[in-house]
Amino acid sequence: MFRSLSVFLFLILFSSCIVLDSRSIRLATDEDEINRIILLEEIASKDLSVEERISILVGEMTLEEKISLLSGYKDFYIEPLERLGLRPLRSADATMGLRGIGRSTAMPAAIAMAATWDEKLVYDIGRVIAEECRAKGIDILLAPGVNIYRVPTNSRNFEYFGEDPYLAGVLATDYIKGIQDNGVLATVKHFAANNSEYDRHRMNSIVDERTLHEIYFPVFKMAIEKGNVLGVMMAYNPVNGISASENEYLMRDILRDTWGFKGVIMTDWISSYSTLDSIKAGLNLEMPTDTYFNEKAIKKLLTEGLIVEAEIDEMVGYILYPSFELGLYDRAPVDNSFVEFGGEHDEVALKTAIEGSVLLKNDKNLLPLKGEELKKVVIIGHNAVKTATTGGGAGNVKAHNPVSIVDGFKNALPNVEIMTSASSSQIKSADAVIVCIGFDSWHEQESHERPWRLPKSQINLVKKVAKLNPNTIVSITAGGGIETESWIGEVPAILHSFYGGQSIGTAVASLILGESNPSAKLPMTMAKYWEDFSTTAPDRYIRENQISWTIFPMINLKIPLFGSTVLRQIWDSEYKEGIMVGYRHFTTANVTPQFAFGHGLSYTSFEISDATLSASSINIGDSVTLTCKVTNTGDRAGAEVVQAYIRDVDSSVIRPDRELKGFKKVFLDAGESQTISIELDKDSFSFYDIEITDWVIEPGQFEVLVGNSSVDIDSTLPLTVN
Ligand code: BGC
Repeated sequence: MFRSLSVFLFLILFSSCIVLDSRSIRLATDEDEINRIILLEEIASKDLSVEERISILVGEMTLEEKISLLSGYKDFYIEPLERLGLRPLRSADATMGLRGIGRSTAMPAAIAMAATWDEKLVYDIGRVIAEECRAKGIDILLAPGVNIYRVPTNSRNFEYFGEDPYLAGVLATDYIKGIQDNGVLATVKHFAANNSEYDRHRMNSIVDERTLHEIYFPVFKMAIEKGNVLGVMMAYNPVNGISASENEYLMRDILRDTWGFKGVIMTDWISSYSTLDSIKAGLNLEMPTDTYFNEKAIKKLLTEGLIVEAEIDEMVGYILYPSFELGLYDRAPVDNSFVEFGGEHDEVALKTAIEGSVLLKNDKNLLPLKGEELKKVVIIGHNAVKTATTGGGAGNVKAHNPVSIVDGFKNALPNVEIMTSASSSQIKSADAVIVCIGFDSWHEQESHERPWRLPKSQINLVKKVAKLNPNTIVSITAGGGIETESWIGEVPAILHSFYGGQSIGTAVASLILGESNPSAKLPMTMAKYWEDFSTTAPDRYIRENQISWTIFPMINLKIPLFGSTVLRQIWDSEYKEGIMVGYRHFTTANVTPQFAFGHGLSYTSFEISDATLSASSINIGDSVTLTCKVTNTGDRAGAEVVQAYIRDVDSSVIRPDRELKGFKKVFLDAGESQTISIELDKDSFSFYDIEITDWVIEPGQFEVLVGNSSVDIDSTLPLTVN
């Protein structure tokens, strides 16, 4: 139909041209214009597949037009091609909400999203951010960030989903669906092994293949295979000696050939290093400008015969594919039917802050405080008055209505005296003292590391207050774990809110006062001692044939970041701990953490009982279903996260003592029970075999561990895989 309409239009215009002006040059121009209209209609045609539309379009482009699409402009845009009906596409950061485009809803940090273990909520976060993109004219969201939490000192951990590839993969997939279901292109980043910010252009991550596949790749794999993400951003760092944006193994072998990725592969900002090598390795888009993918450089390569135009066509095709798939060119950039912030978006931000704050410690049930019995509360410390909504850099969001912890309490307790500075005697006489410690957007942001230990002044404050007042509650704001061993024995209660977004104050008050019941679980391990991490410890043990432990390159330089020790300048970062990252190490090496992965307290209690498997023996490739009953045995509503870990009892290769392969968050009223099921599919039992370069399942004995943290296991169920 489009074709016949076009022909009709063409004839009318064509004949009028002849009547209006008979000069041949004018005729030719008008003919071009008519052809262009026909072409645009064809490209816009919904009757054609995305691939057909792109092929027609690329077939019409001049070489110069193609090259212009291979790089960004004005920092965050993809070039328009007005002649062919392509408007400019605008991108923006990032995972916690929109940055650099006025105020928007500041969601809690991604690590807090992970701490919710709530799939539906994380989908909603994606949806809300996508709606704000639609309202503000953002086509491409530079998120989610999904790098694995390997060391607590990485200042970007807050932008990512924690230490476990399965938990991070499931939640990042939900997030991506929330974004892309609402018509915005998601860009999963930073591929791959970008786990430290120190000298990030040069820090070479040396990682063995099995570890890449089992720890650092899975989130990206799930994002592509399950979330159908259409954008991948490469990392700054080299991986095994080759820059990510020139790394053929990462881009062609893994993304394209192994996982079948069909979308765009772009650089991180100012992280391309060549023209020819990058093209050959499979890079499509250089951001934010054409340092290497410019006309001069590319034409030279064409003239020299080092590349052919078909390679450029392929790159352009990959760049266009997501936009056509999501209909970006078929719509206007701004859609006023969406809101820029406010309303339900605030509710999602608050719910996430509440569900993402982990109650780490609560001796003698000090919490919740009883609001009606309070007369004076002191709230002090680094993050009491400041609203540490989020870390800095690309993850920073200008919140439209930030609420500090002090304001959160003032709003919740209008008749209680809230003091934010206090003398010793005032601290002593207060009904409770909340010490707000941690970092902020200055300490935690891209391109440098942050300390593990809090500044001395903060630790001293905690100790001093705890001596004066037994009702001392520590509220932590930080992008991950911190050192607690030096002061933890002195305080009865600790709440860790990561960066809780715009509503951190409301959430902290609501949780401490028991308006809400904590339900978050740590998405990473908090160690007692720095040396306890596999990534930082001296060679702990070396098993025959196995991976040795390493020392993360720490040491000896001081920078003026609270006067703490930071990384020394080296360029090779050997991931000698291999697959033993986070709780995989702690449980395998029998190291007791301060707070285990998956840990989080509640004001009610739960029982996980009657755990059974749908079969005690399965064939390789089959799934098995875990069923169990969860009962809220306390006196208030709450939520529990049932966690299922797999142990391979007799593996021929070293495997972690346990690995998370399923979880479910269950919301229960007091006294209520629910039977839940968790499917453990074939992937739950496999490991990456470097001999055959694929995932394999070895027949033999397995165990399914069911509990509410990586170390609190209620049932261990045997399973035979034949
Ligand atoms: C960050 C990316 C971000 C980009 C654009 C870079 O510095 O590493 O995560 O998307 O800037 O702001």
